[in-house]
Amino acid sequence: MEKEKFYITTPIYYPSDKLHIGHSYCTVATDTMARYKRLRGFDVMFLTGTDEHGQKLERIANSQGMQPKEYIDNIVVGIKELWKTLNISYDKFIRTTDDYHVKAVQKIFKQLYDQGDIYKSSYEGWYCTPCESFFTEHQLVNGKCPDCGRDVELVKEESYFFRLSKYQDRILKYMEENTEFLQPNTRQNEMINNFLRPGLEDLAVSRTSFKWGVPVEFDPGHVVYVWIDALSNYITALGYGSEDDSLYCKYWPADIHVVGKEIVRFHAIIWPAMLMALNLPLPKKIFGHGWLVINGGKMSKSVGNVVDPNVLVEKYGVDSIRYFLLREIAFGQDGNFNNEALIQRINSDLANDLGNLVSRTVGMIEKYFGGQLPDVRSKTNFDAELEGMAVGTAEKVEAAMEKMFFSDALIEIWNLIRRTNKYIDETQPWILCKDEEKKGELANALYHVAESVRIISILIQPFIPNTPEKIWKQYNISNKIIDWEMSKEWGLLPEELKVEKGESLFPRIDMKKELAELEAAIKASQATAVANQGKEEKKEDKKKHDEPEYPAEITIDDFCKVQLKVGEVIASSVVEGSKKLLRNIVKLGEEERVIFSGIKPWYTPEEMVGKKVVVAYNLKPRKMMGELSYGMILCADDGNGNLSLLTTEKEEFPSGSGIS
Ligand code: MSP
Repeated sequence: MEKEKFYITTPIYYPSDKLHIGHSYCTVATDTMARYKRLRGFDVMFLTGTDEHGQKLERIANSQGMQPKEYIDNIVVGIKELWKTLNISYDKFIRTTDDYHVKAVQKIFKQLYDQGDIYKSSYEGWYCTPCESFFTEHQLVNGKCPDCGRDVELVKEESYFFRLSKYQDRILKYMEENTEFLQPNTRQNEMINNFLRPGLEDLAVSRTSFKWGVPVEFDPGHVVYVWIDALSNYITALGYGSEDDSLYCKYWPADIHVVGKEIVRFHAIIWPAMLMALNLPLPKKIFGHGWLVINGGKMSKSVGNVVDPNVLVEKYGVDSIRYFLLREIAFGQDGNFNNEALIQRINSDLANDLGNLVSRTVGMIEKYFGGQLPDVRSKTNFDAELEGMAVGTAEKVEAAMEKMFFSDALIEIWNLIRRTNKYIDETQPWILCKDEEKKGELANALYHVAESVRIISILIQPFIPNTPEKIWKQYNISNKIIDWEMSKEWGLLPEELKVEKGESLFPRIDMKKELAELEAAIKASQATAVANQGKEEKKEDKKKHDEPEYPAEITIDDFCKVQLKVGEVIASSVVEGSKKLLRNIVKLGEEERVIFSGIKPWYTPEEMVGKKVVVAYNLKPRKMMGELSYGMILCADDGNGNLSLLTTEKEEFPSGSGIS
């Protein structure tokens, strides 16, 4: 019978000499899913790669006296090495500089142009080079890039545009009808409310201000800009647009695109629009995972807080790191990276629970039976419960994996590991061994533990792929009894089991001593990263433009310079020609002010009226949509683009009140 196909992808990474543990998180999760599906008998295609075009790379390479391709080639070697270190089992690695990709992108661009989905116009906007993003005036924060806080440049140039707006209604309808399309569900609501309902603008898809990109064949001087180039990788990697598109025919549509939350919009809106325009099927699912953060902030080379996965793997082994990433953070949400939590997990879950279980049983079979269980058996009262739980765990893991809830899947497996350890405590082999008549019970108990370990060793494969082999060796488990389905059957180990002690799977770590060492190792690697970053940037651009993503500390005196006041919105109206702005009249005691606020996606004018809000009162007036805005209405921002007004807890609090 032909295997069912399963096509899964990671985003393609920007070439960076320091891919950090946050990048690794996305790839480890995708790898786990790919391995799981292979074990379930699917014909898996797992794609990853690098996104190699753009002005930033062109500038860095030039500053180092290299051609962009030459500069990137070195980095790609490092990225591939990192994936090897992390045991990433990708089937294909695409580079957007690969010839077949470049040709296919040109073909796609031409087709969209010929059919009228791409047209020529001109673009004016604020460009942030490090983020490779354009912003409108009102998206800037204090005149700087709203994403990274750095300087932006005003750019006006001729550009080709993709008619994204034309696909708005179809995408909205598609999302509303396919509620599983974008996971977790909250991200779907975000796309609908923040982008699709307010309306999509056509997208600039070519550039003339730099050369390092896929050339637009029919208009020399233009290169294809970012998204048409990058997103197409998911189909060009399969040969779409080439002479041999057999892989495309076999694997497309993708079963899952795994992406970080900040690029969900591109995958859930622009990519479907492109595919609709090309008349191709949409991917079945997009999973937008959260970020691995450090002390609540995003990891970044310029902040100097990146954690190098190589340092961690070298210290604790790849399986410990994979386990931590998959177990500690609920996939879909943000999770904190913390050295103490990492060591804690290694000690408790891996060394104490799993490692101990494996070594204890082998140790006891060696001690009581010279390494080989005799063919005598008598049951104990604890057998049925363990057997039932062991053969029932796979189904629970499967349910969690279908939703990509890796952490839940591991919790189920660890419940079985802990239950098996408890079984040892219940049956007390160290007491049974003292009574010759209990030899049958003793052999039976140890067989039960070993058989449970066999089942566990099958289930952990997708998550920590190096460990099962080590277990199989110690328990002499033949590869005839390790298929996934065999984790649902009890009693497949031979009755006269023969074991052989091996190295400890996960040595226990001395937390106090190790924490200091780990911190020192991470700091040393961060210092190198920052130094390299500094070198890169100095050469790239003589003027200092790097601003930390963390705000600088301020004194109380600085803070007191900002005057905040309670205001009451007494009128509010939509602003013609703006997707986000509401024009509000806010009463502040005796005074009334016009204050524009970009909250239309979250509040209607009717909802605004009567709201007590917090106003930044002494902000310099700013011209917005041709009129001055006097102050700013403050909102909470969840980092996913959702805003909520800040208000007073007591509704009757008078407008004009100060804030202390
Ligand atoms: N090149 C684009 C993707 C194009 S896909 C057609 C890109 N590259 S990236 O290198 O910046 O990011 C690659 C992936 O790494 C993204 O999914 C991003 O969310 C993820 N991560 C980067 N830092 C991360 C964390 N700190 N935590 C989790 N994932 C993070 O975007």
